[in-house]
Amino acid sequence: MKKLVVNGGRKLCGECVVQGAKNSSLPIIGATMLTNGENILHKCPILEDTITACEILTSLGCKTTWQDDSLIIDSDGLCNAQISKCLMNKIRSSIIFLGAILARCKEATVYFPGGCDIGSRPIDLHLSAFRKMGVNITECGGKLQCKVMGSKIYGAEIFLSFPSVGATENILLAAVTAEGETIIHNAAVEPEIEDLCNYLNKCGAKIFGGGTQVIKIEGVESLTACEYSIMPDRIVATTLLCGLAASGGEIFLRDANPKDLSAVITVLEEMGCNIRTYGDNIFCQVKKQLLAPPPIRTMPHPGFPTDAQPIMMALCCIARGTSIFVETIFENRFRHVFELNKFGASIRVEDRVAVVEGVAKLNGACVSATDLRGGAALVVAALSADGKSEISEVRYIDRGYAKIEEQFSKLGGSVLRV
Ligand code: UD1
Repeated sequence: MKKLVVNGGRKLCGECVVQGAKNSSLPIIGATMLTNGENILHKCPILEDTITACEILTSLGCKTTWQDDSLIIDSDGLCNAQISKCLMNKIRSSIIFLGAILARCKEATVYFPGGCDIGSRPIDLHLSAFRKMGVNITECGGKLQCKVMGSKIYGAEIFLSFPSVGATENILLAAVTAEGETIIHNAAVEPEIEDLCNYLNKCGAKIFGGGTQVIKIEGVESLTACEYSIMPDRIVATTLLCGLAASGGEIFLRDANPKDLSAVITVLEEMGCNIRTYGDNIFCQVKKQLLAPPPIRTMPHPGFPTDAQPIMMALCCIARGTSIFVETIFENRFRHVFELNKFGASIRVEDRVAVVEGVAKLNGACVSATDLRGGAALVVAALSADGKSEISEVRYIDRGYAKIEEQFSKLGGSVLRV
């Protein structure tokens, strides 16, 4: 079982390019099922989750090939409408393949998805939207049997009671080749949604308002594969910035899309980081003792992202004063707290609120990743800690970071995989 060994206390310095976004790659990989011909997805990060997404496509009859971080997908051979329970269990995003399979095959058999244990993560919004679009769905023992009732999925007006990222993506994938018009009200506005819409429009879809709360989709007959570059990963950029802030020093992040990071950058500036942006790039310098920021409440975009909460919490452990986190998106997203306290942090949790009393320093510890972003938080804490730390269950971190040890080592951190 692989571990990360981190020797903390070294300042970070240098330049790096932010990897492509996992949360944008996954729905776009699913969307390729709707296209004729060969797609080339550039800046597609090679991760446990994107590899599993490719396994799903292969199991359906599509061809996938990696050339460095370009992923080539040809879905012309798709011949199966069923995803195995084992593959559905591996990643939460397996569910966003459902909309595309239904659009292509008019039927699908899938299972309730797995993924990181950060909350109950229901899929009721996905299913009720599909039912409204003319899909008959029966559930039995975790298995979902879905069949389009007419000759095609039909467009519908859908009101989401919560701006779910996955449900918005799934509806988009079902709607782009549906009969007639679909309107999604209260759609998620996360930048990854806009990236998916840009990809689909490049393939010939007619989507208007992607990245806003009302998305209008006019169904088209067919889509043609294209060459597309995935947007930068805003949570990986956050991790690199928090790693730097925890260690001190200065870094230059290329391809970081600062406009997608406004909520995180605001907090880092309030804590005392000196940040400047140059087009798509970010320069960040940290020279002094950090201060606790005003209370952080996770919210849908453009609010503070829930995925950045554990990572920012690791940083607040060494900020002077009291930091408060309110987690409003996922009910079980404080599992990293127990591990952070092993470094000597002082965090207590009550229900959905975590209170962090800043300490002067953290000490190296042996800890275990509990989920993807909770694992990244442990790396940030270990970078700032005095002495050696060992982080086990790296498989969680590998779901979202392309060799995190190399990313930090390039910047002068001592992070080894053993
Ligand atoms: C996506 C991201 C994840 C991020 C999350 C919120 C991917 C692969 N994952 O997850 O990293 O943390 O957005 O920004 O893009 N909900 C329901 N019913 C549903 C669907 C969702 O109640 O049918 C609830 C969830 O339980 C949760 C909230 O809505 O409380 C947000 O979920 P959602 O936006 O759907 O997140 P994901 O798409 O799973």
